[in-house]
Amino acid sequence: MKIVSTEPTSRLISTLRQEVVDRPPIWLMRQAGRYLPEYQKIRASAGNFLDLCYSPDLATEVTLQPMRRFSLDAAIIFSDILVIPDALGQEVKFQEGVGPVLEPIQSSYDIDALSTFGLTDHLAPVYQALSQVRAELPDDVALIGFAGAPWTLATYMIEGGSSRDYAKTKTWAFGESGSFQNLFTMLEEAIANHLIAQINAGATVVQIFDSWAGLLPDGAFQKWCVEPIERIVSCVKEKKSEIPIIVFPRLAGTRYLEFLTIDGVDAVSLDQTLSREWARDHLQPSLVVQGNLDPIYLVQGGKLMEREAEKILRVFSGNSFVFNLGHGVMQTTPPEHVAALCDFVASWQP
Ligand code: CP3
Repeated sequence: MKIVSTEPTSRLISTLRQEVVDRPPIWLMRQAGRYLPEYQKIRASAGNFLDLCYSPDLATEVTLQPMRRFSLDAAIIFSDILVIPDALGQEVKFQEGVGPVLEPIQSSYDIDALSTFGLTDHLAPVYQALSQVRAELPDDVALIGFAGAPWTLATYMIEGGSSRDYAKTKTWAFGESGSFQNLFTMLEEAIANHLIAQINAGATVVQIFDSWAGLLPDGAFQKWCVEPIERIVSCVKEKKSEIPIIVFPRLAGTRYLEFLTIDGVDAVSLDQTLSREWARDHLQPSLVVQGNLDPIYLVQGGKLMEREAEKILRVFSGNSFVFNLGHGVMQTTPPEHVAALCDFVASWQP
Protein backbone atom coordinates (compact mmCIF):
# COMPACT_ATOMS: atom_id res chain seq x y z
CA MET A 1 0.00 0.00 0.00
CA LYS A 2 1.23 3.51 -0.83
CA ILE A 3 1.56 6.04 1.97
CA VAL A 4 1.20 9.73 1.14
CA SER A 5 4.06 11.72 2.60
CA THR A 6 3.17 14.46 5.08
CA GLU A 7 6.68 15.35 6.29
CA PRO A 8 8.76 18.04 4.61
CA THR A 9 11.37 15.45 3.58
CA SER A 10 13.06 15.43 0.24
CA ARG A 11 11.41 14.03 -2.86
CA LEU A 12 14.31 11.58 -3.14
CA ILE A 13 13.92 10.19 0.36
CA SER A 14 10.14 9.95 0.09
CA THR A 15 10.54 8.09 -3.20
CA LEU A 16 13.11 5.72 -1.70
CA ARG A 17 10.58 4.97 1.04
CA GLN A 18 8.05 4.19 -1.70
CA GLU A 19 5.82 7.09 -0.69
CA VAL A 20 3.77 8.98 -3.27
CA VAL A 21 5.45 12.19 -4.48
CA ASP A 22 4.35 14.98 -6.84
CA ARG A 23 6.91 13.94 -9.49
CA PRO A 24 9.99 11.73 -9.79
CA PRO A 25 13.09 13.17 -8.12
CA ILE A 26 16.20 13.79 -10.23
CA TRP A 27 19.93 13.76 -9.51
CA LEU A 28 22.79 12.69 -11.76
CA MET A 29 25.80 10.48 -11.16
CA ARG A 30 28.90 12.70 -11.54
CA GLN A 31 26.75 15.81 -11.45
CA ALA A 32 29.82 17.68 -10.20
CA GLY A 33 32.95 17.58 -12.31
CA ARG A 34 34.85 18.47 -15.43
CA TYR A 35 31.93 19.50 -17.64
CA LEU A 36 31.43 22.54 -15.37
CA PRO A 37 33.83 25.47 -15.98
CA GLU A 38 33.61 26.46 -12.30
CA TYR A 39 34.82 22.94 -11.39
CA GLN A 40 37.76 23.21 -13.81
CA LYS A 41 38.79 26.42 -12.10
CA ILE A 42 38.84 24.89 -8.60
CA ARG A 43 40.42 21.69 -9.92
CA ALA A 44 43.30 23.71 -11.44
CA SER A 45 43.92 25.47 -8.11
CA ALA A 46 43.77 22.28 -6.02
CA GLY A 47 46.79 20.46 -7.47
CA ASN A 48 46.00 16.79 -7.71
CA PHE A 49 42.58 15.24 -7.65
CA LEU A 50 42.81 13.55 -4.23
CA ASP A 51 43.95 16.85 -2.69
CA LEU A 52 40.65 18.24 -3.91
CA CYS A 53 38.75 15.31 -2.35
CA TYR A 54 40.62 15.77 0.95
CA SER A 55 40.17 19.52 1.17
CA PRO A 56 36.85 20.02 3.02
CA ASP A 57 36.27 23.58 1.81
CA LEU A 58 37.01 22.82 -1.84
CA ALA A 59 35.05 19.55 -1.77
CA THR A 60 32.11 21.42 -0.24
CA GLU A 61 32.27 24.08 -2.93
CA VAL A 62 32.48 21.56 -5.78
CA THR A 63 29.57 19.52 -4.34
CA LEU A 64 27.43 22.65 -4.24
CA GLN A 65 28.30 23.94 -7.73
CA PRO A 66 25.69 21.87 -9.60
CA MET A 67 23.12 22.63 -6.86
CA ARG A 68 23.44 26.36 -7.60
CA ARG A 69 22.93 25.90 -11.33
CA PHE A 70 20.29 23.19 -11.53
CA SER A 71 17.12 22.17 -9.68
CA LEU A 72 18.35 18.79 -8.49
CA ASP A 73 16.70 16.87 -5.65
CA ALA A 74 19.97 15.65 -4.13
CA ALA A 75 23.61 16.58 -3.78
CA ILE A 76 26.23 13.81 -3.89
CA ILE A 77 29.34 14.45 -1.86
CA PHE A 78 32.35 15.19 -4.02
CA SER A 79 34.83 12.40 -3.37
CA ASP A 80 35.88 9.19 -5.13
CA ILE A 81 35.50 5.46 -4.60
CA LEU A 82 39.32 5.15 -4.57
CA VAL A 83 39.70 7.03 -1.26
CA ILE A 84 39.22 3.61 0.38
CA PRO A 85 42.33 1.89 -1.08
CA ASP A 86 44.19 5.14 -0.36
CA ALA A 87 43.03 5.06 3.27
CA LEU A 88 43.97 1.37 3.57
CA GLY A 89 47.55 2.30 2.71
CA GLN A 90 47.67 1.64 -1.04
CA GLU A 91 48.54 5.05 -2.33
CA VAL A 92 46.35 6.29 -5.21
CA LYS A 93 47.47 8.86 -7.77
CA PHE A 94 45.41 10.37 -10.57
CA GLN A 95 47.45 10.97 -13.70
CA GLU A 96 46.30 13.53 -16.22
CA GLY A 97 44.95 11.75 -19.29
CA VAL A 98 45.47 8.29 -17.72
CA GLY A 99 43.16 8.08 -14.72
CA PRO A 100 43.87 6.35 -11.41
CA VAL A 101 47.25 4.72 -10.86
CA LEU A 102 47.95 2.40 -7.90
CA GLU A 103 50.89 0.14 -7.03
CA PRO A 104 49.08 -3.15 -7.78
CA ILE A 105 48.60 -5.67 -4.98
CA GLN A 106 49.74 -9.11 -6.11
CA SER A 107 49.91 -11.43 -3.13
CA SER A 108 48.62 -12.10 0.35
CA TYR A 109 51.74 -10.23 1.59
CA ASP A 110 50.52 -7.11 -0.17
CA ILE A 111 47.09 -7.57 1.44
CA ASP A 112 48.69 -7.98 4.88
CA ALA A 113 50.42 -4.64 4.38
CA LEU A 114 47.05 -2.89 4.20
CA SER A 115 45.00 -2.03 7.26
CA THR A 116 41.63 -0.58 8.23
CA PHE A 117 43.30 0.96 11.28
CA GLY A 118 42.92 4.74 11.14
CA LEU A 119 40.65 4.57 8.07
CA THR A 120 38.05 7.02 9.33
CA ASP A 121 40.81 9.38 10.54
CA HIS A 122 42.32 9.38 7.07
CA LEU A 123 38.88 10.08 5.61
CA ALA A 124 37.90 12.73 8.19
CA PRO A 125 38.11 15.52 5.54
CA VAL A 126 35.33 13.74 3.59
CA TYR A 127 33.13 13.71 6.71
CA GLN A 128 33.89 17.36 7.40
CA ALA A 129 32.88 18.25 3.84
CA LEU A 130 29.64 16.30 4.29
CA SER A 131 28.68 18.22 7.41
CA GLN A 132 29.55 21.52 5.75
CA VAL A 133 27.44 20.65 2.71
CA ARG A 134 24.54 19.50 4.90
CA ALA A 135 24.59 22.87 6.68
CA GLU A 136 24.31 24.69 3.34
CA LEU A 137 21.54 22.59 1.79
CA PRO A 138 17.82 23.22 2.29
CA ASP A 139 16.08 20.53 4.37
CA ASP A 140 14.20 19.17 1.39
CA VAL A 141 17.38 18.37 -0.55
CA ALA A 142 18.92 14.97 0.15
CA LEU A 143 22.67 14.46 0.61
CA ILE A 144 24.12 11.27 -0.85
CA GLY A 145 27.19 9.57 0.57
CA PHE A 146 28.78 6.71 -1.36
CA ALA A 147 31.41 4.02 -1.62
CA GLY A 148 32.63 1.60 -4.25
CA ALA A 149 31.66 -2.07 -3.80
CA PRO A 150 34.44 -4.56 -2.94
CA TRP A 151 34.59 -6.10 -6.43
CA THR A 152 35.01 -2.77 -8.22
CA LEU A 153 37.57 -1.55 -5.68
CA ALA A 154 39.46 -4.88 -5.94
CA THR A 155 39.76 -4.45 -9.73
CA TYR A 156 41.53 -1.10 -9.32
CA MET A 157 43.67 -2.39 -6.45
CA ILE A 158 44.83 -5.51 -8.30
CA GLU A 159 45.12 -4.15 -11.85
CA GLY A 160 46.76 -0.96 -10.57
CA GLY A 161 44.20 1.21 -12.34
CA SER A 162 41.60 0.89 -15.08
CA SER A 163 41.79 -2.22 -17.24
CA ARG A 164 40.31 -3.71 -20.39
CA ASP A 165 39.69 -7.26 -19.26
CA TYR A 166 40.37 -7.40 -15.49
CA ALA A 167 42.32 -10.61 -16.13
CA LYS A 168 44.51 -10.40 -13.00
CA THR A 169 41.57 -9.78 -10.68
CA LYS A 170 39.50 -12.57 -12.21
CA THR A 171 42.41 -15.00 -12.17
CA TRP A 172 42.90 -14.38 -8.46
CA ALA A 173 39.17 -14.55 -7.70
CA PHE A 174 38.52 -17.79 -9.61
CA GLY A 175 41.66 -19.55 -8.42
CA GLU A 176 43.08 -19.27 -4.97
CA SER A 177 40.15 -17.57 -3.30
CA GLY A 178 41.34 -17.72 0.35
CA SER A 179 43.56 -14.65 0.15
CA PHE A 180 41.04 -12.98 -2.16
CA GLN A 181 38.39 -13.48 0.52
CA ASN A 182 40.74 -11.86 3.06
CA LEU A 183 40.96 -8.80 0.84
CA PHE A 184 37.17 -8.72 0.62
CA THR A 185 36.71 -9.07 4.37
CA MET A 186 38.91 -6.02 4.83
CA LEU A 187 37.13 -4.08 2.10
CA GLU A 188 33.68 -4.94 3.48
CA GLU A 189 34.63 -3.62 6.90
CA ALA A 190 36.21 -0.49 5.42
CA ILE A 191 33.22 0.24 3.16
CA ALA A 192 30.62 -0.30 5.91
CA ASN A 193 32.58 1.92 8.32
CA HIS A 194 33.02 4.60 5.67
CA LEU A 195 29.30 4.61 4.85
CA ILE A 196 28.31 4.77 8.52
CA ALA A 197 30.76 7.63 9.14
CA GLN A 198 29.29 9.50 6.14
CA ILE A 199 25.80 9.05 7.60
CA ASN A 200 27.00 10.32 10.97
CA ALA A 201 28.39 13.38 9.20
CA GLY A 202 25.10 14.20 7.45
CA ALA A 203 24.52 11.88 4.49
CA THR A 204 20.79 11.07 4.29
CA VAL A 205 21.06 8.43 1.53
CA VAL A 206 23.96 6.18 0.49
CA GLN A 207 24.81 4.56 -2.83
CA ILE A 208 27.14 1.60 -3.43
CA PHE A 209 28.83 1.68 -6.87
CA ASP A 210 29.71 -1.71 -8.35
CA SER A 211 30.74 -0.35 -11.74
CA TRP A 212 32.38 -3.57 -12.93
CA ALA A 213 29.85 -6.06 -11.49
CA GLY A 214 28.68 -7.05 -14.98
CA LEU A 215 32.08 -8.55 -15.83
CA LEU A 216 31.66 -11.37 -13.33
CA PRO A 217 30.48 -14.71 -14.71
CA ASP A 218 27.54 -16.49 -13.16
CA GLY A 219 28.40 -17.95 -9.75
CA ALA A 220 31.29 -15.54 -9.23
CA PHE A 221 28.73 -12.74 -9.52
CA GLN A 222 26.87 -14.07 -6.49
CA LYS A 223 30.08 -14.65 -4.50
CA TRP A 224 31.94 -11.40 -5.25
CA CYS A 225 29.17 -8.92 -6.01
CA VAL A 226 25.89 -9.94 -4.34
CA GLU A 227 27.09 -11.54 -1.08
CA PRO A 228 29.65 -8.85 -0.13
CA ILE A 229 27.08 -6.12 -0.81
CA GLU A 230 24.53 -8.04 1.25
CA ARG A 231 26.94 -8.14 4.22
CA ILE A 232 27.76 -4.43 3.88
CA VAL A 233 24.08 -3.45 3.65
CA SER A 234 23.22 -5.54 6.69
CA CYS A 235 26.02 -3.93 8.69
CA VAL A 236 24.97 -0.39 7.71
CA LYS A 237 21.26 -1.05 8.30
CA GLU A 238 21.94 -2.57 11.70
CA LYS A 239 23.26 0.82 12.83
CA LYS A 240 21.31 3.13 10.50
CA SER A 241 18.01 1.45 9.71
CA GLU A 242 16.38 4.70 8.55
CA ILE A 243 18.91 5.54 5.82
CA PRO A 244 17.92 4.39 2.31
CA ILE A 245 20.52 2.40 0.36
CA ILE A 246 20.83 2.43 -3.44
CA VAL A 247 22.92 -0.28 -5.14
CA PHE A 248 24.39 0.12 -8.64
CA PRO A 249 25.53 -3.30 -9.96
CA ARG A 250 26.33 -1.90 -13.40
CA LEU A 251 25.76 -4.18 -16.42
CA ALA A 252 24.30 -6.95 -14.24
CA GLY A 253 21.48 -7.66 -16.72
CA THR A 254 18.89 -10.11 -15.43
CA ARG A 255 21.07 -10.59 -12.35
CA TYR A 256 19.62 -7.33 -11.00
CA LEU A 257 16.98 -9.80 -9.72
CA GLU A 258 19.44 -10.97 -7.04
CA PHE A 259 18.97 -7.66 -5.23
CA LEU A 260 15.23 -8.21 -4.75
CA THR A 261 15.87 -10.63 -1.94
CA ILE A 262 18.51 -8.68 -0.04
CA ASP A 263 17.13 -7.14 3.12
CA GLY A 264 17.93 -3.46 3.38
CA VAL A 265 18.45 -2.63 -0.29
CA ASP A 266 15.90 0.10 -1.06
CA ALA A 267 16.71 0.85 -4.69
CA VAL A 268 18.76 -0.31 -7.64
CA SER A 269 20.36 2.05 -10.12
CA LEU A 270 19.96 0.78 -13.71
CA ASP A 271 22.59 1.15 -16.42
CA GLN A 272 21.42 2.11 -19.90
CA THR A 273 21.65 -1.40 -21.36
CA LEU A 274 18.87 -2.90 -19.25
CA SER A 275 15.43 -3.41 -20.79
CA ARG A 276 13.17 -0.88 -19.14
CA GLU A 277 10.00 -2.93 -19.58
CA TRP A 278 11.74 -5.90 -17.98
CA ALA A 279 12.91 -3.74 -15.07
CA ARG A 280 9.42 -2.30 -14.63
CA ASP A 281 7.85 -5.77 -14.60
CA HIS A 282 10.46 -7.64 -12.57
CA LEU A 283 12.24 -5.14 -10.32
CA GLN A 284 9.94 -2.18 -9.76
CA PRO A 285 7.15 -4.09 -8.03
CA SER A 286 9.45 -4.56 -5.00
CA LEU A 287 12.37 -2.14 -5.38
CA VAL A 288 12.62 1.52 -6.25
CA VAL A 289 14.47 1.89 -9.55
CA GLN A 290 16.81 4.69 -10.61
CA GLY A 291 18.28 5.48 -14.02
CA ASN A 292 18.77 4.83 -16.96
CA LEU A 293 19.26 7.60 -19.55
CA ASP A 294 22.34 7.01 -21.70
CA PRO A 295 24.77 9.88 -20.83
CA ILE A 296 25.25 10.53 -24.56
CA TYR A 297 21.67 11.84 -24.78
CA LEU A 298 22.67 14.46 -22.26
CA VAL A 299 25.63 15.43 -24.46
CA GLN A 300 23.23 15.71 -27.44
CA GLY A 301 20.45 17.60 -25.63
CA GLY A 302 17.41 19.02 -27.43
CA LYS A 303 14.51 16.95 -28.69
CA LEU A 304 16.54 13.73 -28.86
CA MET A 305 17.26 13.95 -25.14
CA GLU A 306 13.70 14.94 -24.25
CA ARG A 307 12.16 12.14 -26.28
CA GLU A 308 14.33 9.59 -24.53
CA ALA A 309 13.66 11.08 -21.08
CA GLU A 310 9.96 10.95 -21.90
CA LYS A 311 10.16 7.21 -22.72
CA ILE A 312 11.88 6.55 -19.41
CA LEU A 313 9.35 8.59 -17.44
CA ARG A 314 6.45 6.82 -19.18
CA VAL A 315 7.73 3.34 -18.41
CA PHE A 316 8.63 3.96 -14.78
CA SER A 317 6.25 6.64 -13.54
CA GLY A 318 3.57 4.16 -12.42
CA ASN A 319 5.70 3.30 -9.41
CA SER A 320 8.55 4.68 -7.29
CA PHE A 321 11.26 5.96 -9.63
CA VAL A 322 14.32 8.22 -9.43
CA PHE A 323 15.39 9.94 -12.64
CA ASN A 324 19.14 9.55 -13.31
CA LEU A 325 21.61 8.51 -15.99
CA GLY A 326 22.75 4.96 -16.70
CA HIS A 327 26.33 6.07 -15.87
CA GLY A 328 28.10 9.33 -14.99
CA VAL A 329 27.77 12.71 -16.72
CA MET A 330 30.38 12.92 -19.50
CA GLN A 331 33.00 15.64 -19.66
CA THR A 332 31.71 16.86 -23.05
CA THR A 333 28.19 17.57 -21.67
CA PRO A 334 27.02 21.17 -22.20
CA PRO A 335 25.76 22.39 -18.79
CA GLU A 336 22.66 23.92 -20.48
CA HIS A 337 21.54 20.41 -21.36
CA VAL A 338 21.57 19.43 -17.69
CA ALA A 339 19.43 22.48 -16.89
CA ALA A 340 17.03 21.52 -19.70
CA LEU A 341 16.79 17.92 -18.47
CA CYS A 342 16.02 19.02 -14.89
CA ASP A 343 13.30 21.36 -16.19
CA PHE A 344 11.89 18.64 -18.43
CA VAL A 345 11.60 16.15 -15.56
CA ALA A 346 10.17 18.81 -13.23
CA SER A 347 7.41 19.80 -15.63
CA TRP A 348 6.64 16.34 -17.02
CA GLN A 349 3.01 15.19 -16.69
CA PRO A 350 1.94 11.59 -17.19
O1 CP3 B 1 28.91 11.80 -8.69
C1 CP3 B 1 29.53 12.77 -8.23
O2 CP3 B 1 29.38 13.94 -8.67
C2 CP3 B 1 30.43 12.55 -7.03
C3 CP3 B 1 31.80 12.35 -7.34
C4 CP3 B 1 32.31 11.04 -7.90
C5 CP3 B 1 33.55 10.99 -8.56
N1 CP3 B 1 33.84 9.68 -8.81
C6 CP3 B 1 34.38 12.16 -8.89
C7 CP3 B 1 35.47 12.02 -9.89
C8 CP3 B 1 31.83 9.73 -7.81
C9 CP3 B 1 30.50 9.21 -7.26
C10 CP3 B 1 32.81 8.89 -8.38
C11 CP3 B 1 32.69 7.41 -8.41
C12 CP3 B 1 33.69 6.64 -9.12
N2 CP3 B 1 35.03 6.86 -9.22
C13 CP3 B 1 33.41 5.41 -9.78
C14 CP3 B 1 32.06 4.73 -9.82
C15 CP3 B 1 31.15 5.28 -10.82
C16 CP3 B 1 31.58 5.05 -12.25
O3 CP3 B 1 31.92 6.04 -12.90
O4 CP3 B 1 31.57 3.88 -12.70
C17 CP3 B 1 34.62 4.94 -10.31
C18 CP3 B 1 34.81 3.68 -11.11
C19 CP3 B 1 35.65 5.88 -9.94
C20 CP3 B 1 37.10 5.76 -10.20
C21 CP3 B 1 37.61 6.89 -10.98
N3 CP3 B 1 37.68 8.18 -10.51
C22 CP3 B 1 38.15 6.84 -12.28
C23 CP3 B 1 38.24 5.61 -13.14
C24 CP3 B 1 38.53 8.15 -12.59
C25 CP3 B 1 39.26 8.57 -13.83
C26 CP3 B 1 38.38 8.64 -15.01
C27 CP3 B 1 37.87 10.02 -15.16
O5 CP3 B 1 36.66 10.18 -15.40
O6 CP3 B 1 38.72 10.91 -15.07
C28 CP3 B 1 38.19 8.98 -11.49
C29 CP3 B 1 38.42 10.44 -11.39
C30 CP3 B 1 37.26 11.29 -11.00
N4 CP3 B 1 36.37 11.01 -10.02
C31 CP3 B 1 36.94 12.56 -11.55
C32 CP3 B 1 35.83 13.03 -10.87
C33 CP3 B 1 35.12 14.34 -11.05
C34 CP3 B 1 37.74 13.29 -12.62
C35 CP3 B 1 39.01 13.78 -12.00
C36 CP3 B 1 39.47 15.11 -12.49
O7 CP3 B 1 38.81 16.13 -12.24
O8 CP3 B 1 40.55 15.14 -13.08
